[in-house]
Amino acid sequence: MNTNVGIENDQIRIRDFKRADFPLMLKWLTDDRVLEFYEGRDVQFNMETLAEHFLEEIPDGFRMIIEYNDQAVGYGQAYQLSGEMFEEYDYNDDGRVVFAMDQFIGEPDYWNRGIGSEFLKMMASYLKTSKGAACILLDPHQNNHRAIRAYEKAGFRIIKPLPKHELFEGKKEDCWLMEKVLQTLEFKKFTDFPRGTMYDKSGVIKL
Ligand SMILES: CC(C)(COP(=O)(O)OP(=O)(O)OC[C@H]1O[C@@H](n2cnc3c(N)ncnc32)[C@H](O)[C@@H]1OP(=O)(O)O)[C@@H](O)C(=O)NCCC(=O)NCCS
Repeated sequence: MNTNVGIENDQIRIRDFKRADFPLMLKWLTDDRVLEFYEGRDVQFNMETLAEHFLEEIPDGFRMIIEYNDQAVGYGQAYQLSGEMFEEYDYNDDGRVVFAMDQFIGEPDYWNRGIGSEFLKMMASYLKTSKGAACILLDPHQNNHRAIRAYEKAGFRIIKPLPKHELFEGKKEDCWLMEKVLQTLEFKKFTDFPRGTMYDKSGVIKL
């Protein structure tokens, strides 16, 4: 996806991920404290495998680096859902632009300082205004309480369990599907739609 992220507030800057970030990524993704929650401690990255993994373009998505007071502290990726990705998330494909995201703060000293939740708030605003996103989805492990708390602080809410959703450290992990709605469909009146139009519980049309 053609993008040029450049979003900042007083302390946080979100910028494009570059090749020059690989040494830092290697530092972060060989730290067991980070791997415990992202990728898994059974994954052993070196420069080559890291490049294989992170140089590949994300279809309909992009990678980014999170900076805090001018220091790179974390990584994020965002991608627009299509086709079977909706099935993977068991999420209704009703024609809206839906993004999913993954992220980590690679410097554990910087956890619990509000960076993760602020990053997500900034991204929500960016994806809405620049990419027309109507909704963002996240799928944290059910036992990742810090991540869940951070995401709730950023306005996400748990909408359903995703049982055995991710193979992680040799085990299929249960996750939560979390959603942040950015724009809702607006209807003038129900009679504008053909007879037989169905609505699910959230008012979304199923044709
Ligand atoms: C998840 C992550 C991105 C969140 O970013 P962050 O900057 O640490 O998050 P924030 O500081 O915005 O919010 C963390 C909140 O969780 C709380 N928290 C910390 N540990 C907790 C725990 N064990 N149980 C419940 N809440 C916890 C913090 O107190 C804070 O809430 P508060 O501000 O109300 O006190 C970051 O911690 C991280 O990268 N962790 C390791 C990798 C990871 O888990 N990635 C996400 C995979 S889904």
